[in-house]
Amino acid sequence: MTGRLIVLSNRIPTDKPPAGGLVVAIHELLAERGGLWIGSGDEFVQTPSDSFRPLEGGEGYDKAAFDLTESEHETFYLGYANSVLWPLCHHRTDLIALDRKYAEGYAAVNARVARMLSEILTPEDVIWVHDYHFLPIALELRKLGVAARIGLFLHIPFPTGPDIQALPEREAFYHWFAAFDLVGLQTEADVARCLDGYRAHRSGEMLMNGRMKFRSRVFEVRSFPIGIDVKTFAETAAKPLTHDPVHIRADAKLILGVDRLDYSKGIPHRFRGFGTWLEKRGPDSPRGTLIQITPPSRETVPAYQAIARELEALVGNLNGRYGELDWTPIRLIERGVPRETLAPLYRLADIALVTPLADGMNLVAKEFVAAQDPENPGVLILSRSAGAAEQMTEALIVNPHDAEEVGDAIERAFKMPLEERKTRHAALFQVVQDSDIFDWGTRYLDRLNKVERALDPAKRL
Ligand code: ADP
Ligand code: G6P
Repeated sequence: MTGRLIVLSNRIPTDKPPAGGLVVAIHELLAERGGLWIGSGDEFVQTPSDSFRPLEGGEGYDKAAFDLTESEHETFYLGYANSVLWPLCHHRTDLIALDRKYAEGYAAVNARVARMLSEILTPEDVIWVHDYHFLPIALELRKLGVAARIGLFLHIPFPTGPDIQALPEREAFYHWFAAFDLVGLQTEADVARCLDGYRAHRSGEMLMNGRMKFRSRVFEVRSFPIGIDVKTFAETAAKPLTHDPVHIRADAKLILGVDRLDYSKGIPHRFRGFGTWLEKRGPDSPRGTLIQITPPSRETVPAYQAIARELEALVGNLNGRYGELDWTPIRLIERGVPRETLAPLYRLADIALVTPLADGMNLVAKEFVAAQDPENPGVLILSRSAGAAEQMTEALIVNPHDAEEVGDAIERAFKMPLEERKTRHAALFQVVQDSDIFDWGTRYLDRLNKVERALDPAKRL
C-alpha cells in the first residue's frame, strides 16, 4: 500500500472498557499496522465543526475526531443509524422509527464528513469505512471528485430485499453501496442477500467473481468474517486470577452471557431457555448459575428502553421460582467489565450462551473459544442466527427462539464427556485462529488494493 490507511467509523475507543465488536477489533488491528482512525468526538459542539480534531492516545496509530452537535447526535446517531438502519439490518422492521429529520441529519453529517475528508486526502490514500453510520459517504466523496479507493465493511447483517422496501431511501440504499470499490460483509449469507437485492433491482447486473455492475459503477461484494486477537486474548485469559470474581460453589456450574443490552441479542429468549432447563432439571443435573453481563447501550433510543425492565422481571421471576437459600440461578449485571476480568471469566465458565436473534458475527463466541483451557474446555452454545455460526459449526447450534431447544442444549453441554468437549473445542479454536483479526485486516486491505476499477472511479452515479 503506498498511501495512508484512513479508517472511518462512528465509534472510536475511549478509556472506558470497550463494549462493541467494531471498536475492539479495529483497535487491535490498527495498533498492529498503524494508520489514521477518524471517529466521532465524545462532547457536543454548538456549531458543526468543519475540520478534524486530533486526539491523543492512539497507541501506534493516529486518531482524530469529527464533532457533532447535540441535534446531529439525535438525528444521525440515535435516529437514522440506530432507530432506522440497525433495526432494518437486524430484521426488526417493526422497530423502525421513521422521521424525515433523521434522514436529513444522516445525510448532512455524511456530506460534511465527506467534505472534511476530501480536504485531507491524497489520491494514494486508502479509505476504509466501517459500518452503517456512513453508508452514503462514498457517494458523497465521489460527488466531490474523490477517486481514491474506498472500501466499506459492514459489521452487521445485510438486510433482506423485502426489508429494504421499508426504507423511504430504498432507492438511494443501492446507490450508497455501489459507490464503494469493495463492500465487505461478514458471511456468505450476507453476500447472497446483498447480491439478491441488486439482482432484483432492475439496474443491477452480476459480473464474474463477486463483481456487480450498477449503472455506471462496478464494485465488488465479498465476505470477510471478522475475528479477534486470539493470542493476546488467550494469554489474558490464562493469567492466574488473584481472586475469585464470581464466588459460586465448587459443585455449581457457571454459564456466561456477555452482550450489550440490545434487542438483537435475544437475552430475554435466553433467560426463557435457561428457565426451561431449570424447570426440567433432574436430580442428577448440576446446579447452574447464569451470569449475564450486559452494559447498557443506546439508552435514549425508545426501542432499547423496555429491555432492561423485561430482563429484570424475568430474573426476579426465575430466581423467585427456582432459587434456593444458597443458590441464585441468574445474576444480571448491568455494566461492562474490563477485558482483564472478562477473559479469565470466560475460561472459568462451563458454558457460554451466545444466542442472538440476529448478529453480524458475534465476537463473544470467538473470545470464549480463545479463552478456554484446551485440556478442560467449556461448551459454546451458539445461535444459528449469529454470523459466527457459518464458521463455528462445532458449537452446539441452537434456534434462539426455541426455549426448549436452548434448555436441552444446556443439559447436553453439562453432560458432555470431556473427550467430546476437547474435540469440539479444538475444531473451534482452529477456526478462530485461522481467521483472526490480523488475517481479516490483511485479507480485506489486500483485496481493496486489487479491486479492478473498469470505469472512471469518481464518475457520478
Ligand atoms: P456487538 O458488536 O454487537 O456489541 P460482538 O459480540 O461482536 O457484539 O462484540 C462485543 C464486544 O464487546 C466483544 O469484544 C465483547 O468482549 C465486548 N463486550 C460485550 N459486552 C461486554 C461486557 N459486558 N463487558 C466487557 N466487554 C463486553
Ligand atoms: C456494534 C456495531 C458498531 C457499534 C457497536 C456498539 O458492534 O456494529 O458499529 O460501535 O455495536 O454500539 P454503539 O452504538 O455504542 O457504538
